[in-house]
Amino acid sequence: MGSQALADKITSQMTLSDRADAIEEHMMHELDHIITKSVFSNLTDGKVAMEGGAALQAKHPGKYFNMGPDPRLPPMPEKPTLIDYFRCRFASTNHLLQSGALALKNGHSEKVVLACLLHDIAVVGFIRCDHGYWGAQMIEPYVDEEVSWAIKSHQALRFFPDDSVGYGYPDMYRKYFGDDYRPEPYIVEEYKRARNHKHYMTSRLICVNDIYAFDPNAKVNLDDFVDIIGRNFKQPKEGLGWDNSPSAHMWRTIMWPTRFL
Ligand SMILES: [Fe+2]
Ligand SMILES: [Fe+2]
Repeated sequence: MGSQALADKITSQMTLSDRADAIEEHMMHELDHIITKSVFSNLTDGKVAMEGGAALQAKHPGKYFNMGPDPRLPPMPEKPTLIDYFRCRFASTNHLLQSGALALKNGHSEKVVLACLLHDIAVVGFIRCDHGYWGAQMIEPYVDEEVSWAIKSHQALRFFPDDSVGYGYPDMYRKYFGDDYRPEPYIVEEYKRARNHKHYMTSRLICVNDIYAFDPNAKVNLDDFVDIIGRNFKQPKEGLGWDNSPSAHMWRTIMWPTRFL
């Protein structure tokens, strides 16, 4: 279908979202393979919906479903590293780089610096909800358990003050969630468990270095962290996603998010 066909399909009577759907539909036709949306991405659009395989193929005669890389996304190397994910899949990295840089400036250990650098990778590369848990699972096979535990627990700790390190409830959360927002019971329970854990302070330091790290003008380069990543993140030789670790499928899904099955 050429651009005239697209123009014919899009009329001024269409709502904005109908137009967006028509454009998306048009783009799908231009691609060699049928690209599908998972139920989860429909859920985040507020719809409990999925299109069945047969119906979709009928709409795209003669085409097969995408079973590999999504041609609309930046290509990933054959054996991707954590750095490749930073460059090709993470939608925004400034906050992570700034947190890592602040931890470095404050003289913390390399494990704390790495924990700060990776603490929100789930948010920037995958999912917001429960991002501490998802992020920790993604990296667990490749880092010291101090780092992954700290990332898991920052999910809860950031809502609770710790005067011993000058950490108060973030003003930004008041602004984002309202004055009367209270963390859910599972977060309160997680906080109580974390409080007495041997790595409590590592997780707390993520919060401390997190809060002051939102400077839109400060620019930090990922190159500054290549050595720390090299020493503290066990990059699998097969490539992150192809290494049969317990979280390899999560990395593959981020690499190839529209693989049909
Ligand atoms: Fe976070
Ligand atoms: Fe953060």
